[in-house]
Amino acid sequence: MQQIVDDIAAQMASKSDKGAVASYIPQLACVDPNQFAISVALPDGSLYSAGCSETLFSIQSISKVFTLTLALGKLGERVWTRVGREPSGDPFNSIVQLEHEHGKPRNPFVNAGAIAIADAILHGHQPKETLAEILRFMRFMANDESITIDEKVARSELETGDRNASLAHFMASFGHFENSVDAVLGTYFHHCSIAMNTIQLATSGLFLANDGINPTTGYRVVSSNRAKRINSLMLMCGHYDGSGEFAFRVGLPGKSGVGGGILAVAPGKASIAVWSPGLDPIGNSKLGTQALELLVKRTGWSVF
Ligand code: DON
Repeated sequence: MQQIVDDIAAQMASKSDKGAVASYIPQLACVDPNQFAISVALPDGSLYSAGCSETLFSIQSISKVFTLTLALGKLGERVWTRVGREPSGDPFNSIVQLEHEHGKPRNPFVNAGAIAIADAILHGHQPKETLAEILRFMRFMANDESITIDEKVARSELETGDRNASLAHFMASFGHFENSVDAVLGTYFHHCSIAMNTIQLATSGLFLANDGINPTTGYRVVSSNRAKRINSLMLMCGHYDGSGEFAFRVGLPGKSGVGGGILAVAPGKASIAVWSPGLDPIGNSKLGTQALELLVKRTGWSVF
């Protein structure tokens, strides 16, 4: 496996078109696009990394997998009264479906869906308390107490967050929110701004590759059935309007973030995190996707 990840990192280093870094969040626009990292965590506890796997990056929408997991723990099946389970086929920040669908987002991974999930997990608490809970969860999952929120990124998102504010106000206008729009958006922007490296992220995703149990701690995070369902949502909705293309090319449940990270799950086999900040036009990591494509070719890990 070490040979495989080393080969992939070498191939990615030689690519000339690395995509374009996200520019709509100014703090992400300053990241050097010439970076690549991959970490593969196996349920037996072994870990294989190549590239800058200790460099922290903004996990952005990958955090939505973990807030969904927390929401399922708190609300159980009632989560599905707040968000649907269908791919949107629209960009991650689109508002159009909300008007026709009574303010209920298609799935928990589009921005509107994750904002609705942030409202559900706040449940009348202060954003500070809920964020502390999310961070505690991430640290426990990654088995690493050093994980924090990048406040500069959170501020940058807040300052340029007009589209997300529109989504939130629009949903609130249907009477769906339990908390103030400001509290919900503050929580959402901050959990998107959690900074992690690929080692921490691959470790955090292991419960999804291991029937719901985090093998580093032995702790059951979710039931086996719930792990399967989270994986199915990642497969169908984890890359927005690029989800079909990702399933076609890679064939694994995956969740991308506009910071250039992707968490992919090979059920029963591995949790994989890749990072390269340059994005394709849909907003998914360009080299990250190519790297996963190569990994699956070498390992045969496609779920199909
Ligand atoms: O709300 C936003 O736009 C960002 N915090 C997250 C978007 C994102 O990561 C989309 N991913 N590819």
